[in-house]
Amino acid sequence: MQDILAQISDEARALFGQGKVASYIPALAKVNPRQFGIAVAFTDGQTCSVGDANVPFSLQSISKLFTFVLALKAIGDDVWKRVGREPSGAAFNSMVQLETEHGIPRNPFINAGALVITDILTSHYAHLDYALLGALRKLADAPMLNWNTEVAKSERGTSHRNMAMAYFMKSCGNFHNAPELVLDNYCRQCAVEMNCVQLAQATMFLAHSGRNLGQSGQANAQFLNADDARRVNALLLTCGAYDAAGDYAYRIGLPVKTGVGGGIVAVAPGIGTIAVWAPELDAKGNSVLGGFALERLVELTRWTPHAT
Ligand code: DON
Repeated sequence: MQDILAQISDEARALFGQGKVASYIPALAKVNPRQFGIAVAFTDGQTCSVGDANVPFSLQSISKLFTFVLALKAIGDDVWKRVGREPSGAAFNSMVQLETEHGIPRNPFINAGALVITDILTSHYAHLDYALLGALRKLADAPMLNWNTEVAKSERGTSHRNMAMAYFMKSCGNFHNAPELVLDNYCRQCAVEMNCVQLAQATMFLAHSGRNLGQSGQANAQFLNADDARRVNALLLTCGAYDAAGDYAYRIGLPVKTGVGGGIVAVAPGIGTIAVWAPELDAKGNSVLGGFALERLVELTRWTPHAT
């Protein structure tokens, strides 16, 4: 695996310059675009990584995977009263479907859906920041993990579109807390930083029938029940890359979650997880080198979304 990752890294780095770092969140525009890291974590506790796999990056929409799982754990199937589970076929920050669909977002991974999920969590937890950070620190086995306050502030100051969607959903009765408060929480969640090794570790429960791995690589806790882990993977496969979800399913075929920080996490159920990071994005907001690297990895390993 180490050789495969080194080969993929060489091939991917040849693509530097083909995308652009996200600039609509001003603090993200400062990131050096020419970085590439990839880490694979196996269900037996082993990990492999190359390149900038230990450099922290902004999770951005990858946080939507974790907040959704927390909401599912908190209120179970009631989440489906507030959000759908169909691919949107539209941009991550699109508002067009919201009005015709009466303020019920298509799925929990587009911005509108993630805002509803953060609204649910804001109602459920007295101290949401601590609940989320606590869960992420345990999952990633990274006690110092935190959000980047500059990135959170930068996004909060330019969140007009997300705020518009939150107010629209409130007008439809699908938003229970003050939009300002939920946006504060949402922007902090998006600004959480992890490196590739930590992200691969943090999502291990999705590859391991809901079980997390402890520090020693020993099977640790049942973080999510196995049926829900399977369902979350189905949702990631169909909705995890926004309006590129079909293209990603065709090229890569694994459940994925992308973010405008340039990170992508992918799940090979029964095998392990892959986290890749390269900040240059394509027109749909997904990492150019990240998508390429995952495509090469499945070509070289033949990993599929079915447990082996
Ligand atoms: O709300 C936003 O626009 C960002 N915090 C997250 C968007 C994102 O990561 C979309 N991913 N490709």
